[in-house]
Amino acid sequence: MKKKLVATVVATMMMIGTLAGCGSAATSETAGADNAGSAAKETLVVGTNAAFPPFEYVGDDGNPDGFDIALIKAIGEKIGMEVQVQDMEFDSLVSSIGNKIDVAIAGMTVTEERKNTVDFSDSYYSAVQAVIVPKGSSIATADDLKNAKIGVQLGTTGEFIADEIEGADVSAYNKAVDAVNDLNNGRVDCVIVDKNPASVFGAQFSDKVDVLEGSQFGFEQENYAIALPKGNTELADKINNALKELKSDGTYDELVSKYIGE
Ligand code: ARG
Repeated sequence: MKKKLVATVVATMMMIGTLAGCGSAATSETAGADNAGSAAKETLVVGTNAAFPPFEYVGDDGNPDGFDIALIKAIGEKIGMEVQVQDMEFDSLVSSIGNKIDVAIAGMTVTEERKNTVDFSDSYYSAVQAVIVPKGSSIATADDLKNAKIGVQLGTTGEFIADEIEGADVSAYNKAVDAVNDLNNGRVDCVIVDKNPASVFGAQFSDKVDVLEGSQFGFEQENYAIALPKGNTELADKINNALKELKSDGTYDELVSKYIGE
């Protein structure tokens, strides 16, 4: 009888412990090993979509890796926060900021539309959409995209561009690589995706596809930035200052050459 009571108390305490661990993303705290003795380190819960190499992908150990992941970890170190990465669908990142996640880093382009919901850090990279075509395709200009079957990743600027093309039949996939697989299967005529992942996929399927530059199609430059909770200028300032420091101390360039190879 007594034993049972103890077991119940222990179980209840464990439950309370678990519930306490479920606090809002922004206020959860972790005791950083390198922070022993001082106050517990605050956790920055970072959303990403780890299917966008070289910016984010699932590494050999099963955890998200890539340029963005390394960059946000370096930022976390500068601002004294423990970075915890959460892999999710690209399309739900913006609406998850302020509830499931604190910020998002996902090769995300700054757009006016997204600015209605989130703020953006200073831009940390610029890119443009590219067009992946099967070898021997006749697609070469903006006109050739009219009435074409176009594969894109759901909720991306590639999709927004494709949606504006006259007569285009747009298929949106959760992952860009799924669009590329359908290109290889002949289900779409081309894939519109950001230039760096386009060249990774181009190299992966070099016997089957060619990657065409966005300038050929008149696509405009896009700027990647970290998406932040609207109005949190304190966090924005911290992150922007950290970004500036990482640029001036050479870390940013190191990460570019390690992950992007430019
Ligand atoms: N730059 C594009 C956008 O913001 C695509 C980003 C996709 N990123 C990803 N991690 N899947 O819409």
